[in-house]
Amino acid sequence: MDKILEVKNLKISFRTQGGTLKAVRDISFDLERGKTLAIVGESGSGKSVTSKAVLGILAGNSITEGGEIIYDGRDLLKISEEEMCTIRGNRISMIFQDPLSSLNPIVKIGQQITEAMLLKNKGNRKSARKDFNTTLALLKNSMIAALGLDKKNEITEMCSTFDKFNIEGIKLENSYNNSVSEAEGLVSEIEDLLFMAEKKQKIDYKARFNEIFAGLKMVKDPFMMRDYSSKLSEATSNLKNAVSAYTPAKKNEEFKEFPEILNNALNNLKAVLGEILAAERPNFFRIGYYKLKNPQFDLTSKSVSELNALTLDYLNEDFMFKFIDMEKKGLKYSFDVALAKKKELMPKLYEARDFYKKGEFDKNSADKVATEVASLVENSIDRLELNKDSVAYTFRTTLLTAIEKYFVAIKKNPQEEARFERQSKKRDALIAKGKHVEWKVVPKSVYDLDELKTEITNVVERMIGRYEAYIEAAPTVDFEVRGVEMIDYFKAKASEVVYKVTKRMAKEKAIKLMEEVGIPDPRIRYYQYPFEFSGGMRQRIVIAIALAADPDILICDEPTTALDVTIQAQILELINNLKRERNLSVIFITHDLGVVANMADDIAVMYAGKIVEYGSADDVFYDPRHPYTWALLASMPDLDTKEKLDAIPGTPPNMIYPPVGDAFADRNKYAMQIDFEQQPPKFKVNETHWAATWLLHPNAPKVEPPRIVTDRIERMTKTGGTN
Ligand SMILES: Nc1ncnc2c1ncn2[C@@H]1O[C@H](COP(=O)(O)OP(=O)(O)O)[C@@H](O)[C@H]1O
Ligand SMILES: [Mg+2]
Repeated sequence: MDKILEVKNLKISFRTQGGTLKAVRDISFDLERGKTLAIVGESGSGKSVTSKAVLGILAGNSITEGGEIIYDGRDLLKISEEEMCTIRGNRISMIFQDPLSSLNPIVKIGQQITEAMLLKNKGNRKSARKDFNTTLALLKNSMIAALGLDKKNEITEMCSTFDKFNIEGIKLENSYNNSVSEAEGLVSEIEDLLFMAEKKQKIDYKARFNEIFAGLKMVKDPFMMRDYSSKLSEATSNLKNAVSAYTPAKKNEEFKEFPEILNNALNNLKAVLGEILAAERPNFFRIGYYKLKNPQFDLTSKSVSELNALTLDYLNEDFMFKFIDMEKKGLKYSFDVALAKKKELMPKLYEARDFYKKGEFDKNSADKVATEVASLVENSIDRLELNKDSVAYTFRTTLLTAIEKYFVAIKKNPQEEARFERQSKKRDALIAKGKHVEWKVVPKSVYDLDELKTEITNVVERMIGRYEAYIEAAPTVDFEVRGVEMIDYFKAKASEVVYKVTKRMAKEKAIKLMEEVGIPDPRIRYYQYPFEFSGGMRQRIVIAIALAADPDILICDEPTTALDVTIQAQILELINNLKRERNLSVIFITHDLGVVANMADDIAVMYAGKIVEYGSADDVFYDPRHPYTWALLASMPDLDTKEKLDAIPGTPPNMIYPPVGDAFADRNKYAMQIDFEQQPPKFKVNETHWAATWLLHPNAPKVEPPRIVTDRIERMTKTGGTN
């Protein structure tokens, strides 16, 4: 199980005129890499608030009362806005219900996609520079420590060389990529043009040809042109001649048949471009080094394949073998130091666990032990490890939060007890006097102190488990592999640093994205305004914008709610395909369980700011346990349900005064007395499935789900599907 996002004990309120509204009340869930988690619940249950919290875009009147959102070893609730900016829209993207609200009505679609790219590109380059520098500095120090101070100058020199030639190579590659992207753009533009001529479309052909000629000027990278420049200029002037020979009557007129000579010239140009694109690619990582060492050498005096061969041995023998050797030692050194610290720290972790387990502590001593052991843990992290261990990175905040919660509860419980006592006494006294008392005493909402206390121990226990596994696996770590991964990491970061997206590149990428999300004729659509698109097409555009920066996580908040049913299905399929092809992790929010039947891996059912049932899609569809889930299933339309669908009676509770017991009790015909008095705990159904309902208590009467639900399950079991 590879968790990409962990939400723990999230609590969010809003300040409102009427009081504090508790929108999200202590929810926890994990999102696994490459999986879809559906969050399902009626309007107002806190779904959007949850997703906005992940992106750090809650309204100004929000109060984040507690919890953690762990992504990439960081708690998103605690990082700076600047840091959040590098994540939002970049690594985590979001699409909303109403595509129009995400689009600017007066800006052409293409520009809206490219703007997102250009903007993100700027931020990326900055943060990549930082990552590159920090990691290289760490590696350098580690290499020096591993190899001794007398190697210091040599190592410093090598690291600086590594930095320089990386950047040098990427600069060359960048120019090359610009030309590749131009050439690819031209090929598809020529295809468009030929296609439109064949269909006799009305189009500004002159502008089209001008665009082609302008594009051709941009295919100019010296590595690319070395073997092809005469061929390309010949094809270009051929086309120029053919174009001037072709004089349609009016500028905007429909294409007549293209004369043969024009057709041929276009096809010929396309073929030459194709040849250029298929040619051997220079290895810029190696060439960058060669250029750094031999600045006078004219690289284009050799063909690409000669250069590739020449620079391979040169780089390896002159630099790389030695560097990787030292790098591996540096990595191993850093690993070993961290490992030794981990081993040394284990008794302290056991001590801390026993200390919390024994339970004789006040807030000060509990905090003191936590800070001490947390510092040791932080100190034992191998900063050169590329896969960050989020348990270790967030250990301090997790532990301190658990302690805080416990002590808050200790204070709060007696207050609650006292209130209960007071009110009960008053009520009893009134009744004793023979009065008719209308009001009831609100039951005590006290925390389970034992549970909170155990959680403190559990946090330490989890840390222990993590490090024990780490220590056990230590002998199997392969530094050959780590060394190569590290070099790849540097290459990737360096290319982000100098990867400057030009407008033209952004356009080509935007058109590819439009194609990927299923927009027909993207080259025409690129120049249109949002109002010229249907609702479904607009949502596709919004998805394209969300994907522009290649995010890891896509949050979809009711993305199909505003669309027709047929279009809905297409958008769902699109999201599903994108998820598979891009290995995206998806949080899919909807009020309609039916929507997620075929796409969710896991489902969290939310009601009144809490998750009331959580499980795999099979768990929730085939073995639902919470009456609220039953109600959702009963109100879910499907093709075979002959009976009238059951709308859920009543309305959700007022979240300024959330009910003390199960929030659904008022609308639940299976509710028992205890549902009105006490919050149900999570009852485990199986390893992946739990529900928070008193019906699962061993003493509860046995209740079957409503007929409409059991019938549906039976039908699904027969057909083996949810539809
Ligand atoms: N800015 C805000 N101020 C006050 N209340 C809000 C604000 N945003 C959301 N809420 C309230 O929080 C609760 C959860 O809202 P939301 O997450 O949007 O529900 P949904 O599950 O429909 O997406 C609702 O009661 C809503 O009215
Ligand atoms: Mg919502």
